[in-house]
Amino acid sequence: MIKIPGLIDPHVHLREPGATHKEDFDTGTASALAGGVTLVLAMPNTRPPIFDAETLEIALQAAGQRARCDYAQYLGAGPDNARSVAALARQAAALKMYLDATFGQLRLDDMSLWHDHFSCWPGDTPIVTHSESRSMGAAILMAHIYGKPIHIAHISLREEVLLIKAAKQHGIQVTCEVCPHHLFLAEGGIPLAPAGDDCCSDGLSAGRSEVRPRLATRADVEALWENLDVIDCFATDHAPHTLVEKDGENPPPGFPGLETMLPLLLTAVSEGRMSLDDIVQKSVINPRRIFHLPEQPETWVEVDENAIYEIKASEMHSRCGWTPFEGWKVKGRVCRVVLRGKTAFEDGKVVAETGYGRNVREI
Ligand code: DOR
Ligand code: ZN
Repeated sequence: MIKIPGLIDPHVHLREPGATHKEDFDTGTASALAGGVTLVLAMPNTRPPIFDAETLEIALQAAGQRARCDYAQYLGAGPDNARSVAALARQAAALKMYLDATFGQLRLDDMSLWHDHFSCWPGDTPIVTHSESRSMGAAILMAHIYGKPIHIAHISLREEVLLIKAAKQHGIQVTCEVCPHHLFLAEGGIPLAPAGDDCCSDGLSAGRSEVRPRLATRADVEALWENLDVIDCFATDHAPHTLVEKDGENPPPGFPGLETMLPLLLTAVSEGRMSLDDIVQKSVINPRRIFHLPEQPETWVEVDENAIYEIKASEMHSRCGWTPFEGWKVKGRVCRVVLRGKTAFEDGKVVAETGYGRNVREI
């Protein structure tokens, strides 16, 4: 049995308010604890989006009542809220700017709308962008011009990791995260890890493999692995949609990920593709530093690094009821999670109650 600190996931969609048939603060944070994650940063692309004092209050009320693990809530950048969200910055996880197409209504198509946010946001926490390829390059440039730290969500392409590497070498304040699905799956949902080799080599159906950024080529995935030292954080981009929605006419993009991240990463450790220290650096130390998060005292995860088993959605806690890693054989099981001195997860069961989770930005 090994003991590691509780993981921090800087990128989760908990769907509350507005789409609680997919997930809510209760089921989403239960899923987090089952995956060894004790602190989640919740994304603002809900219905309504979280982008002013009133909607922030709605999300924080729901989280206060239902979250089982600790949390903070993102604010979303809209076309005319730069000043008002900046005034709420201390209560928020960070600012999220959607610069490319994805799920939800928050999107800043017009680059001239970016200026106000980059100039107003205080910069104690980063501006997090959903920005792919060239829009990522433009966002890094604008953050640099305004002297603000920028964190690039879910990088997936070789050209992205190479540009971030070069920007860091030039002293630009940029950090980034990668999701397990962009490390372990290629286009079509084809497994790119020994763990999935013998079960899922046909990949995923078109609807189930929909995700933004899209699953990339084998060469892109290899470039991410080769440049892991450039990548600051692991993040799930836990984006639950139900199976009926994923298998329906207009499949929404997104994968659940909270309960599969640590087992997949531990499997990579057992295969010598990364170290346990990489997990602690990128899932605890770096996100805590980048987002200025407090330490969680008496908080740890007990892992059986030798347990070999199959990933099964039927054993998971997310409301969405599926995983793109169904049937994968992994090595490394979360056995027990202790959060602020209390057992929160043990023997496959979440025991932390709804409302136990604390807002780490409470002032
Ligand atoms: O695939 C995705 N789903 N990518 C995103 O950026 C948003 C997410 C969602 O909210 O469903
Ligand atoms: Zn996301």
